[in-house]
Amino acid sequence: MFLRPGTPALVLAPMDGVTDALMRELLTEIMPFSYCVTEFIRVSGTVPSDRVFLNDVPELRAECRTASGAGIQVQLLGGDPERLAESASRAVSLGARGIDLNFGCPAPTVNRHDGGATLLKFPERVEAIVKAVRAAVPPLLPVSAKLRLGWDDMSAIHVNAERAARGGASWITIHGRTKMQGYIPPAYWGPIGEVRRALEIPVVANGEIWNVDDMRRCQDETGCEHFMIGRGALSEPGAIRACAETLGCPVRASDCSIVGNDPTEWRRLLELVVLRSRERDESERRAVARLKQWLNYAHKRGTISWFDSMKRLLTSDEMLSQLDHLSRALPEGAREAA
Ligand SMILES: Cc1cc2nc3c(=O)[nH]c(=O)nc-3n(C[C@H](O)[C@H](O)[C@H](O)COP(=O)(O)O)c2cc1C
Repeated sequence: MFLRPGTPALVLAPMDGVTDALMRELLTEIMPFSYCVTEFIRVSGTVPSDRVFLNDVPELRAECRTASGAGIQVQLLGGDPERLAESASRAVSLGARGIDLNFGCPAPTVNRHDGGATLLKFPERVEAIVKAVRAAVPPLLPVSAKLRLGWDDMSAIHVNAERAARGGASWITIHGRTKMQGYIPPAYWGPIGEVRRALEIPVVANGEIWNVDDMRRCQDETGCEHFMIGRGALSEPGAIRACAETLGCPVRASDCSIVGNDPTEWRRLLELVVLRSRERDESERRAVARLKQWLNYAHKRGTISWFDSMKRLLTSDEMLSQLDHLSRALPEGAREAA
């Protein structure tokens, strides 16, 4: 369901405000991700209620898999080992098949409340948290940790990764940047490779992998066989299929291979978002926000050239019609180049 030694994996990154249940369903339906991780569930004063878990992770009712069968790890974020352990145990009792612990979130509000990347300043706490959660979760279910390189010092990854492993992490995922580096390129893959060589548990490499070339360079630099991709799934959807093919992961004929600017292909993709949104009785506003969010990622990356003509439209029908219009307006052969 998750990582197996010798079997390369491509993991859908957790992205708060982006990869909710609908997007997990959609992205794993059209892209060959091996498994995915939920957006973080915050554990602060109390253990989240069943309602919170089931609301954020409705897949708990369905063997904790997406509709297309991809496994889902439930990610918890907090600083209190006992409360996190209790929360993990609650998640498992509701159907979770794996827990991931967030030691990377850079948001000041989260960090001020003793969560996310702030814990990287206290390696002994990283170990205590992993250990407590590991003890609370049945041995056959994985408990992993997702780390940044450090708070402000990249070399902190060595002690934090070692402590997470000592706490019993099944594997660790490393986003190759410190908290202070935010999301500013580049990501530093070198330290990920050093940790992979030093530890016996698997290491998943993450950060700034947008396409096959990036993945290959990351693979060369780290020696990793497992990769997590977040923003790239939205900005260049076909790259996931290409990465999976390169790694030898199973790929379905139906997996998305859209790579460029072609509005016809983007229309097919976005129509699925609208469809899934309507199936869930979401508001029109929500559907439009989803479409714009997705296109904005592709626009920022430079994959599409026509976002400006879409961003002020108010309904999903208008947006799909505009894509029809763009498809007709763009001459054959000019689409890829545009
Ligand atoms: C909008 C957004 C929300 C994120 N939310 C989470 C989260 O909930 N948990 C987490 O561990 N990482 C979170 N991340 C970090 C990503 O999982 C990933 O580590 C980061 O985006 C780097 O990977 P990428 O370059 O492939 O996007 C988030 C990133 C973004 C852009």
